[in-house]
Formats: sequence, C-alpha cells, structure tokens
Amino acid sequence: MVDLSVRIGATELANPIMPASGSFSTEVEQVIDLNRLGALVAKTVSRNFRAGNPTPRVAELETGMINSIGLPTKGLQYFLDVQVPDYNRFTPPLVASISAETAEDFAAMASDVSVPGVDVIEVNISCPTRAPGGGNFALHDEHAFNVLAGIRAATEKPVWAKLSPNAGDIVAIAEAAEKAGADALVVSNTILGLKIEVDTFRPAIGNKFGGISGPGIKPIIVRMVYQCAKAVSIPIIGCGGICKVEDVVEYMLAGASAVEVGYATFRNPTAMVALIDDLEAWCDERGIARVADLTGAIRDEVETDTYAAASHM
Ligand SMILES: Cc1cc2nc3c(=O)[nH]c(=O)nc-3n(C[C@H](O)[C@H](O)[C@H](O)COP(=O)(O)O)c2cc1C
Repeated sequence: MVDLSVRIGATELANPIMPASGSFSTEVEQVIDLNRLGALVAKTVSRNFRAGNPTPRVAELETGMINSIGLPTKGLQYFLDVQVPDYNRFTPPLVASISAETAEDFAAMASDVSVPGVDVIEVNISCPTRAPGGGNFALHDEHAFNVLAGIRAATEKPVWAKLSPNAGDIVAIAEAAEKAGADALVVSNTILGLKIEVDTFRPAIGNKFGGISGPGIKPIIVRMVYQCAKAVSIPIIGCGGICKVEDVVEYMLAGASAVEVGYATFRNPTAMVALIDDLEAWCDERGIARVADLTGAIRDEVETDTYAAASHM
C-alpha cells in the first residue's frame, strides 16, 4: 500500500491533502473525519475585528466561483482563546493563516500566534480583496522580502508564504520569499476578476472585483507551481481548482509537495476525504510506493531525437 506521507520542511503530514484557508472550519466535522486530513488550515485572522466586504460576497462562474469576502475575523484574541483550542481537538497539524496591513504588524502577529497549539504560520500576503493601502505584499519582490524577513525574525515556527497569481512575475516573488527565510510557498491565492450581471448592469460582487477560484484557474496555477519549483528549493504547496485526484497528481508532477483544496469543498463538503481515498487507489493501481515520489516527476525533457528524426524526413 502506498505511503501517503509528505514532508513540508520540518512538518510531516500524513497525506498531502489539506484545506485552503477560508474554505474550511471545524464545522466540516459534521460530514468528514478531520483527523484524516494532512493538516488543518484556519481562516485568515487579523489582529482586530473586521466585518468583511459588502454583500453579495460570492457568485458562480462557469469555471468555478468569484469571491470578495474581505477577510472578516473576530480578531487575534478570539482566534487564540477559542479557535486554536477548537482545532486542537483534532490530530493533524494546525496551520494558522495571518494577515496584517503593515510589515511591522505582520511580524508582531507572527510572534503572537507562535503558541504551542499552532504548528505552522501561513502568511496571507496575497489576498486580492484587502483594503487598498495595505496588504498585497505579494505583488512586489521587495515588499515580499521585507515582510517575510520581519516575520522570519519574529518566530521559530515554520513559515509558509502564500503567493499571488496577480503578481507580474511570481517567480521573482518566490525567490524573494525563499531568500527571506520562508520554509515553504503556497501557490497560490485567487486571480482577480470581474463579473457583471447583464440584467442589472451591476457587478455581481458587492466589492466589484473578486478573486476567481475553481477548475478554470488550475492550468494557470499548475504552470506557476512548475515555474516556482524550478526556481526555488523550498517545498511548494499547490492550490487552485483541485476537484479530482488527477488534479492532485498534476500539481505534484509540476513540483508541489502537497496541495490545498478550496472551491471543491464548497461544491461537496466531503471532497477532501474522497481525494485522499482516490489518491491512495490511484497510486496503488500504478504500483507507486511513495506519493512523495510524484513531486517534480513531470517528464519535460525535450525529445530531441524525435525532432532530429522529423527534420530529416
Ligand atoms: C470563499 C473563499 C474565501 C477565501 N478566504 C481566504 C482566506 O481567508 N485566506 C486565504 O489565504 N485565502 C482565502 N481564499 C483563497 C483560497 O484559500 C484558495 O487560495 C483559492 O480559492 C484557490 O483555491 P481553489 O481554486 O481550490 O478554491 C478564499 C477562497 C474562497 C473561495
């Protein structure tokens, strides 16, 4: 039987499937056994209460969904007092996701969430729907480096940097994150989009623009995972449009060591457990002994012999 365990730096996961931040809460325990997941990734938390964006916050697309939730949160203290103990009822590592408007507060947040119940800090420097004037450190390599270097200095916990596909050159951001001391990259957050309701001529989303997620973005993000994996040596967690086992395998072949699942859970709350079962069966059918061997196993060598043969025809 296949060994599904993977390592993200110092963090061992029983399998490579975990939720994407904001797509999951412990309420999902009503339909799946949360102890089966590779890790539990919490909704992004900021220091203070945030109400979030005006409604409607989500709309359907042919290829997935668009959202602008606006990072509503009850704040850091509530997270530490109530949510961390709630997550700690389960065995998988807890990944806390943090956001802040300044590099200084990001570092202070990283220090404040470095409590025994938190195993990993995921740094959401990439949410495309944060208020203008703050956030979105993932759009410029210099900004990404500065914020992550501050966070690195503020905590001993593993730091996963969640990147943005909206950056002009995501590889430059990935390299900056590695240089700043990130332990892993999450590639990636949503792609900024606009949906207009033609009956009303109004944007479908209260905040006008939103982040696109779901199967439509998958080939774009798989390409980004591939490019980042060629450029950095820290592990990469693929995230974008994963709905079926073949999507997980594709991300791993491109260079991901694990994946995060968002949209699929909204469509089917048991999707992550089905992915784990299907991944096990997929590997067993093919005699793959360790799922970790799939990471970066894409066969992308140029078939020069074929070209040479063709050119002499
Ligand atoms: C409703 C919704 C809320 C989200 N909230 C967060 C969040 O709080 N923090 C974050 O880092 N990403 C958030 N995301 C982005 C997801 O974590 C993920 O990066 C993105 O949706 C791509 O994966 P998917 O195609 O599997 O959904 C959210 C996505 C959705 C659809």
